[in-house]
Amino acid sequence: MKLTQEQIEYYGEHGLLFILELFSTKEVAAMQAAVEDLIVKDTPGRILEKDNKTVRALHGCHTTTEIFDSLVRHPSLLTSACEILNSDVYVYQFKINFKAAFGGDLWPWHQDFVFWDREDGMPSPKALNVAVFLDEFNEFNGPMYFIPGSHKESLVHLGQIESSEVNGQKNDWKSNVSAALKYSLGKETIAKLANEKGLVAPKGPSGSVLFFHCNLVHGSAPNISPYDRRLLIITYNSINNIPSFKGKPRPEFLVSRDHTPLQPLLD
Ligand code: SIN
Ligand code: MN
Repeated sequence: MKLTQEQIEYYGEHGLLFILELFSTKEVAAMQAAVEDLIVKDTPGRILEKDNKTVRALHGCHTTTEIFDSLVRHPSLLTSACEILNSDVYVYQFKINFKAAFGGDLWPWHQDFVFWDREDGMPSPKALNVAVFLDEFNEFNGPMYFIPGSHKESLVHLGQIESSEVNGQKNDWKSNVSAALKYSLGKETIAKLANEKGLVAPKGPSGSVLFFHCNLVHGSAPNISPYDRRLLIITYNSINNIPSFKGKPRPEFLVSRDHTPLQPLLD
């Protein structure tokens, strides 16, 4: 798959691009099987919900699991990321957010870049997310909400950021991945932006793929439905945008230190 000029322009304007069923049922089944193997392993990159039981996310699986190592080099994802960022890229983060049936918790409204800037010293927002639906996303199971066009607002630099309460948690990397997110946006900011620009919640079958800008405002509601909602997110960063990692670096399963430019696999 090569992105068309129209798709690249759409991404530039709205901050996201949704491609239905990029992966086949067979390809998704292979990824789901790998996830089933991983979820039972008590690894440092496995994060639990506040009930201390339900898995919230797995991090860094591209370094441990062959199918995900291949996925990050898949030409449809990698080449598109390079085209959008106009640069060679490496994997900055890899995660699978579970949003489990009857218990997957929310992601408060936020932008991603503020985390990467403040926690890792990423110089500029020359990074993007590629989200792969591992389940069907519907109106019941907590799809992601986006404010299209909000990536142009640079809210962080206008000083509109409001830190959420980090409920009794130590102010460490866990507050970057929990439902009490460290840098979330306030109600007034969201209401104003949503009134101006609207909201979208891309829904569709498993295998669908969503590219989104690291300054695009997004969040998602808890999943009280009986349907799992597993989302795999690869964050590609430009090789010209390596973080400085000043201070105490976050764990490697959360932020990769391997900056080697990725080469696409053959189709
Ligand atoms: C994210 O903000 O990284 C993911 C949100 C979600 O999984 O709904
Ligand atoms: Mn996010």
